Amino acid sequence: MSDFSNKDSAKSIFIANVKGGVGKSTLTIMLARALATNLPPQNITVIDTDLQRTTTEFLSASNPEINIEFVPITPAFENTNIALLQQFIKQNSFKNSHIVIIDTPAGSSQRLWNLVGESYCVLIPTSLSNADLAPTESFIKSMDKVKARYNQIYPHLVVCPNKIPFGQKDYSTMAKRLANHDVVIGPAIRDLASVRHFYNGNYKTDTNVNASEDFGRFGDFVNKFVVKGELDKIYHSGKNNLNVVPFQKK
Ligand SMILES: Nc1ncnc2c1ncn2[C@@H]1O[C@H](COP(=O)(O)OP(=O)(O)OP(=O)(O)O)[C@@H](O)[C@H]1O
Ligand SMILES: [Mg+2]
Repeated sequence: MSDFSNKDSAKSIFIANVKGGVGKSTLTIMLARALATNLPPQNITVIDTDLQRTTTEFLSASNPEINIEFVPITPAFENTNIALLQQFIKQNSFKNSHIVIIDTPAGSSQRLWNLVGESYCVLIPTSLSNADLAPTESFIKSMDKVKARYNQIYPHLVVCPNKIPFGQKDYSTMAKRLANHDVVIGPAIRDLASVRHFYNGNYKTDTNVNASEDFGRFGDFVNKFVVKGELDKIYHSGKNNLNVVPFQKK
């Protein structure tokens, strides 16, 4: 179990979900970029585990000052690669005030979940559709069980509503569904046309007002609640009824 009691020690943030296509890689890229406006970019390391290297290519073009490691997780070499990933995280854990963001592939590798279970925080993107919410909920349940078994408050679980229709204000279905789980609901990211297009090599999301608004707010949330440790206070206060905190547009 990692020690996160020192507030300056490095923090690892996994972006994970068993469900594919929910926006893990997109969120990894946009979060790294948003955090780079809050923190020295050299204090940010992104680990790209996707064979397709999209995150690596995107970030090295757009934000070369962010550290990027490519550690592919392929089914055939899963155990070897996960051991390598663990080493990378460990190396970075000795750097003060360092943030390590790890994108993960979809699927359900127990070995990977064990590693995720040692991290500081897991960001779990999902849409509001039942096809995404149902597997997301069972993923949260299994992470919760691990935390309960070891009686630990880490990793903090944050659900990130993604691909939300413009104008949607009601998150009660999601909040109700997650009410009995030890999770926090982060700020929503809308269904953004500019994001859908940036995999075609169009990296100009900065000029898109909606995208910079949503990811900017998301980055500020992660900076305050994860990087600066505000979530620890919520958990340490023992007010379990406060664990579901919907962070919505003001
Ligand atoms: N907020 C958003 N608005 C619109 N489209 C989005 C948004 N987030 C992600 N997408 C689109 O959804 C698709 C899947 O996104 P992404 O590749 O980030 O998901 P993933 O969870 O990493 O998928 P995989 O499980 O295959 O690794 C992409 O086409 C992406 O452009
Ligand atoms: Mg991905």
